[in-house]
Amino acid sequence: MPDAPSDTVLSASPAPVRAGGELFTEERSADVVAASLAGTPDPRLRQVLTSLVHHLHAFVKDVEPTEAEWGVAIDFLTRTGQMCSDVRQEFILLSDVLGVSMLVETINHRTGGTSTESTVLGPFHMVESPERELGDDINLDGKGTPCLVSGHVTGPEGEPLAGAVVDVWQTNEDGFYDVQQPGIQPQGNLRGLFTTDGEGRFWFRSVVPRYYPIPDDGPVGQLLAATGRHPNRPAHLHFIVAAPGYRPVTTHVFVADSPYLDSDAVFGVKDSLVRDVPEVDDPARAAEAGLPNPFRTLTFDLSLLREEQTPPTARPVDVQPTVVKGVPS
Ligand code: BEZ
Ligand code: FE
Repeated sequence: MPDAPSDTVLSASPAPVRAGGELFTEERSADVVAASLAGTPDPRLRQVLTSLVHHLHAFVKDVEPTEAEWGVAIDFLTRTGQMCSDVRQEFILLSDVLGVSMLVETINHRTGGTSTESTVLGPFHMVESPERELGDDINLDGKGTPCLVSGHVTGPEGEPLAGAVVDVWQTNEDGFYDVQQPGIQPQGNLRGLFTTDGEGRFWFRSVVPRYYPIPDDGPVGQLLAATGRHPNRPAHLHFIVAAPGYRPVTTHVFVADSPYLDSDAVFGVKDSLVRDVPEVDDPARAAEAGLPNPFRTLTFDLSLLREEQTPPTARPVDVQPTVVKGVPS
């Protein structure tokens, strides 16, 4: 065998010359990856990605997934994306059931108790909701228990807000929004846009809201089943209330005796939003309201902050509610 050339190195190679980057190790993984982000020009993007990397690496070190488990996670996220369409947003649903939607919503609408509290928008809001007259009946399919819904919209000093727009939507007695049942429910069933009168009042005829399941026929439903959780939301009526010069509020009113009030699948319940829905047995009032006797009443007053009176804890109103089209059943 010929001798090895004298300048050939047979022992361990010296470290290649590198431009200063630290190599990946288990111990320093997050810092090494974060360093690669240091040149991100947008400072907010750099902050967000750096934090994401640190939290994600801490999570993996905590869980120590097997490669098969990591594959299951990737498959779950892949299927979540594949479930999305222009009428179904499975990633928002995932964010909802993990409480992240409520956390983002709550962080961005801190009002220190100075106005009506907000809660999740949900996927069933329609931008083009029918305009209604005060007193109209939005129960177009005739199902459910008749209910007179009314309230006042006021500003922070209790001043009535005339001309405020009150956008409402709820499920029918079968637990579906109209947009989930095209061709089954009349279009615009149980939704509408009202405008408050000169004293900031609104009222309309509807039905007592009922509880219903969020769409659970996809990966998020499988996650709920795998964790022994139910998919239900307690009975509620959605509101977006807006008036010029005031911060809009996206919220619900919840029915006090509804099932699932303390286990909402999307964590949307706040104590201040729960109301009784008492029965009224009074033929004269029923006739005045245009409802059969007896009927139920749901009263929900809303108070908005003035834009310039934003409390110091609040985030600026920089983003209006995201509108996602309805989800088919
Ligand atoms: C809703 O209340 O309409 C809703 C909210 C979150 C997820 C699904 C539905
Ligand atoms: Fe809802």
